[in-house]
This record gives sequence, C-alpha cells and structure tokens, in this order.
Amino acid sequence: MEKLTMEKIVNLCKQYGFVFPGSDIYDGFANTWDFGPVGVELKNNIKKCWWKRFVQEDPNTYGVDAAILMNPRVWEASGHVQSFSDPKMDCKKCKQRFRADNLIEEYSNGSVAAEAMSNEQMQDYIAENHIKCPNCGGFDWSEIKQFKLMFETNRGTVEENKNMVYLRPETCQGEYVNFLNVQRSSRAKIPFAIAQIGKSFRNEITPGNFLFRTIEFEQMELQKFCKDEDSIKFYDEYKSKAINFIKDIGLSDDKLRFHDHDKLAHYAKAACDIQYKFPIGWEELNGIHHRGTWDLSRHSEFSGKNLEYLDPDTNEKYIPTVIEYSIGADRLTLAILCEAYDEETLEDGTTREVMRFKPFLAPYKVAVLPLVKKFHKEKADEVYNMLCKEFMCTYDETGNIGKRYRRQDVIGTPYCITIDDDTINNNTVTVRDRDTMKQITINIDEIVDYINDKIKF
Ligand code: GAP
Repeated sequence: MEKLTMEKIVNLCKQYGFVFPGSDIYDGFANTWDFGPVGVELKNNIKKCWWKRFVQEDPNTYGVDAAILMNPRVWEASGHVQSFSDPKMDCKKCKQRFRADNLIEEYSNGSVAAEAMSNEQMQDYIAENHIKCPNCGGFDWSEIKQFKLMFETNRGTVEENKNMVYLRPETCQGEYVNFLNVQRSSRAKIPFAIAQIGKSFRNEITPGNFLFRTIEFEQMELQKFCKDEDSIKFYDEYKSKAINFIKDIGLSDDKLRFHDHDKLAHYAKAACDIQYKFPIGWEELNGIHHRGTWDLSRHSEFSGKNLEYLDPDTNEKYIPTVIEYSIGADRLTLAILCEAYDEETLEDGTTREVMRFKPFLAPYKVAVLPLVKKFHKEKADEVYNMLCKEFMCTYDETGNIGKRYRRQDVIGTPYCITIDDDTINNNTVTVRDRDTMKQITINIDEIVDYINDKIKF
C-alpha cells in the first residue's frame, strides 16, 4: 500500500459518510467537522469501549456528565483565566499566525523541547536559527505574545448586566468540582476515580490536520483521587491501562510510544503522553498527568468549601492527590481511521479498499444484501428487521453483489449477509467475512448468536 496521507483519509471520510467539513454548504467553517452516519457510529463505539473499560469494569470509578458552562470562578481557580495561553507569533509579511513552540519543534525535528523554553529563549532561538515563515518563506516576525485559548461568551438577558462565561477548554474541572458530591452520594472511599466524556472548546492558534487539532472536540477524562504515597503507583497503573486500551481497540504496538514531559508543573511529580504515528508523524494521542493536590486545593480555596477527605478507617483528613488520564475522542477516532485503512491487491490483480476496524468498533456490524432484489427483497427486509433490533445494520439492494461487498469493505462492515433462494427454501444465509472474504452458510436462527459472539469488546 502507498504511504497513507491525511488528504486521502479526509477524502475517504467525506465520500463514505464518516466525517464532513462543518457547515459544508456555506463553504465550511475552518477546523470544524461534522460526523456523518458512519462516523458517528464509529466514534460512539470508541466512546462506549472507553466507558466500558474505565467505568463499567472498574467498581471504583464513577461517571458524571457535568455542564459545559461553569461558574467563571472555576476557571480562575484552575489557572486557565490567568495562564491558559500559547506563545503566538505573527508573520508581518503574510499576516499568518503561528505558535512559536511549534515553529521550533518543526525546525529542529523534535530534538529541541520548546515547551521548556521561555518566550525570550524561543525568540532568540528563532532569530539565531533564522527560522522562516512556513507559509511565505519570509523572516519578519512580530514579538512573541501569549494568546488566550478560552472561548468567551456572555450569560444574561439584559445587555448591561451580562456576565462573561467560558466554554470549557477541558472536561476535568467538572470532575474536580463534583469530587465531594460523588464521594458522598456514592459513599466512595479513596482511592476512587471520576470519569466523563464531553465536549471541550479551544481557540487554537494553529488548528488543523483534520480531526487532530480542532477548536471543538470531545475528551474522555478520568481523575483518580488517591493518597499521595500511592500516587506514583496509580500513575504507572494508568500508563499501562491507557496503552493497553488503545492497543485493544486496534492501534498497533509499533505506532505507539511514551513521551515523558520535559517540563513539569510545579505541583506535578510526573507527566507523559502516549504518541501515535499519524500520517503527519509522531504526535500526542493522550496524556497521563500527576497533578498533586493542586486542583482540589485551589477549588477549596476559591470556593471556600473544605474538599478534604476524611478517612473513615484512620480519621485522617487530607486533600487527595490526583492522577489524570485524558484522551481526545476525535483524535483517537482519527488514529483508528488511519490504522484501519488498507488497500489490498486481490488474486485477480484488482485492489480493494478496506477499513479493518475491530468488529466491535465497526459502524455497522452487518449488511443485509438481497441477491436479486426482485426475488429476495421481502425475505431480506424480514432478516433486516430482526437483526436491527440487536445491532447496527445496513441494507443495500443496488448494483451487483461484488460492488455491494466493496461498498461494505470500505466502511468496515465485518459481515455481509446475502439473502438468496436458499434463504427462502431452507432458511439459510451466507455470511461473508470482510477480512478473509470467505463465506459460510448458517441458519437464520443462528445469525444473532454468531454475530454477537464476534463483536464483543
Ligand atoms: N485535562 C487535561 C487536558 O485537557 P490536554 O493534553 O490539553 O490535557 C488531553 O488534552 C487530550 O485531549 C489530548 O491528548 C488530545 O487527545 C485531546 N485534545 C486536546 N486538544 C485538542 C484539540 N484542539 N483538538 C482535538 N483534540 C484535542
């Protein structure tokens, strides 16, 4: 297979209904994307697997779904109002805006850790190395300034009484502010975790690369509240849980690596990313952060509420330490799309495009295909109506059967069920496997168990 490019994935996603440009008929709205009928199933399945692994299967993790709009004091306590910003530089020649740290990292091929540099150090490095504007090739930079990343909006019905509120730039603050509510209502004992999946918004300076960096995206975040003395144990535990999860849903070992942060926050004992080898190169897929007692201490201070935990066994009172595990649902969907794409040369010399999703992630589990519409449609409708109560199915009666198989291959449907004369006469169907293209014959009554057995996560 030729090297996969982002452009190829973007085109395929649009053509087959995975992802469309946002506001497409208005010529789009830069760096927003709409998930189509196939893409929404894929992303939902990824989120369901994450929830199953991290919430359902862990009795000490509790789910929440917090409001996107929060009291603005939350963002003062978290430090976002003061310092959630990136170092931006403008090219005075072409007026394009860039992140200074990205310019340095790209120029040095990742060998210089710009995240650990001050603005002055970055400015000097760019000048000394004569780093040019990637857009116009000019070398006429503005001074580096911090650019605020939070979207601001107003709450209030009367113009003069409107208050500024923020669209949340991360979901985890909803987990911190609910620490006490969850702990008390669920009678949770430390160590325990709170998890949620939801939308976040960032006014990114350099969004782009399709779903990789957008201004509106979903995060799947989990905060483990623990005793400080156990925190490194849980940090290591979430490192392995995080990598095992992404491998289990289909990302390959040779495209994954850990990357320790060069610069740690003053309260942190450790922080790392897991990077994935996207078509654009090695990039962050998720993060695991030791956050010390920073978050709960700050919320305690700003809200005036005591967020200490009282240990019922020892009567000890303390602010728990937090280990955070955070992954973008859209970024993970992009990684899964890139990983699953394959072009296979068949024995007759033709090629087929196939999305080799793990069956539990596949948008449709089954396609029901009447061999000849005129004769087999009625029976196919009957089978479809039975199967769609169990799992997502699709139905296709147009074109020859070979073309219909190809259409299912490219959206990753693992099983095609063909309805033919034998179905009418003997109650049997053929089931074609997407990856091997082999077919077996089974009784209609066996289909549900057969498929259910194959799509477990
Ligand atoms: N609460 C911690 C936090 O938000 P982060 O590293 O800024 O940490 C966590 O974000 C994850 O969210 C990233 O690893 C990435 O998967 C995803 N993410 C962050 N910014 C994103 C963006 N602009 N577009 C898409 N995904 C993004």
